[in-house]
Amino acid sequence: MLNVRALYKEYPNDQGESVKAAQDITFEIPEGKLFTLLGPSGCGKTTTLRSIAGLERPSGGEITVDGKVMYSSEQKVFVQPNRRDIGMVFQSYAICLI
Ligand SMILES: Nc1ncnc2c1ncn2[C@@H]1O[C@H](COP(=O)(O)OP(=O)(O)OP(=O)(O)O)[C@@H](O)[C@H]1O
Ligand SMILES: [Mg+2]
Repeated sequence: MLNVRALYKEYPNDQGESVKAAQDITFEIPEGKLFTLLGPSGCGKTTTLRSIAGLERPSGGEITVDGKVMYSSEQKVFVQPNRRDIGMVFQSYAICLI
């Protein structure tokens, strides 16, 4: 079971202002279920996935996998991506052939 609760992430933009990339995202996915994030460009799908994989450190909220806390702003927990046992296929990739 993947549990995402009140996930919040903001990035600084070039002007130093904060961009709210994911706001109050909450969902749970039972084991074995296929789940889709659907929404317009820029709504925060990739930010959410990168946060689950541990490639981004969220600004707030909680992410648990099978009850194990991967990220929690309240508990100040951030499990490194290589310790989460989560795979991710990147939206954009680059292969450099020389
Ligand atoms: N590294 C970053 N630095 C600053 N802003 C970012 C960064 N990554 C994403 N954003 C901003 O956060 C918001 C959400 O971006 P995100 O890539 O999560 O959207 P998305 O739903 O995956 O969009 P798409 O459907 O185009 O892939 C956008 O406004 C984007 O410009
Ligand atoms: Mg995306």
